[in-house]
Amino acid sequence: MITIIGSGKVGGDAALFSALKHLDDQILLLDVVDGLPQGEAMDINHMLSEQGIDVQVTGSNNFADMKGSKIVVVVAGSGRKPGMTRMDLLKINANVVKSVVENIKKYANESMIIPVTNPLDPMAYVTYKSSGFEKNRVFGMGGMLDLSRFRQFIHEATGHSRDSIRALVIGEHGENMLPLPRFSSVSGIPLSSFLSKEKLDEIVQNTKQVAAKVIELKGATVHAPGNAISAIIESVVRDRKQVIPVATYLDGEYGHSDVTIGVPAIIGKKGVEKIIELDLNDEEKQAFDLGVKNVKEAISGMGI
Ligand code: 2OP
Repeated sequence: MITIIGSGKVGGDAALFSALKHLDDQILLLDVVDGLPQGEAMDINHMLSEQGIDVQVTGSNNFADMKGSKIVVVVAGSGRKPGMTRMDLLKINANVVKSVVENIKKYANESMIIPVTNPLDPMAYVTYKSSGFEKNRVFGMGGMLDLSRFRQFIHEATGHSRDSIRALVIGEHGENMLPLPRFSSVSGIPLSSFLSKEKLDEIVQNTKQVAAKVIELKGATVHAPGNAISAIIESVVRDRKQVIPVATYLDGEYGHSDVTIGVPAIIGKKGVEKIIELDLNDEEKQAFDLGVKNVKEAISGMGI
């Protein structure tokens, strides 16, 4: 069973995409709001029924129903409200995530956890620390989403098929996000063969800012995060060993410890099977380190 805790738009879309890809026979949507996960599950099942896909989606308000889940996605939490500081949001969501993790430990102690709640990197840290799970079993979804945007901008700028484009984004899922043109390509051909330095800089900037633009236009980002969650789950359940940037705990990698931030990792049936250490240049390393500094400050501000 795959469990998704938080049945808003992103949770619902994660369930939808996971069901369409038949990543498990059973997908559970959990939420504290009575009726929301049940209604979402019904709606998805009606669609699956027409498509003839035998995946059972269930909605529940009872955490005990996640018993035996192999993968638990945590999307639960608040968005930032007017007048709320970033640190207010951090504290509120840290408490939500902690209480959710208590339930995961109680009912799905053998599972892998994919935190998605923002601010992602500190929430992945809270998840890792409060779960006590091995570090390979906790990996947050952020970089996968960021790279889908980077890939789209490369597609728009070059006109080449999205399928030929490989893009990588690491670091903080936030202001110090680090799109990596040097580690991105069109079918292995460096981006610099197609795009000027100015254009690449523009694409990098756009990648960092486009989520805010979507939120401004439609209120939330939904399909891209929902899909990115399902892409990570797919690499685990099919043991694909794809290289995917995830927010995972660093223990010396990239010269940092006791922090959770986006790095490329091999994702397979054991979760994070290996963190890949890139040979970053000075400029890239500086941006990555700034992200680490920001995340560490957030972690210490939460007082956990
Ligand atoms: C996103 O990047 C808001 O973190 C969310 O879509």
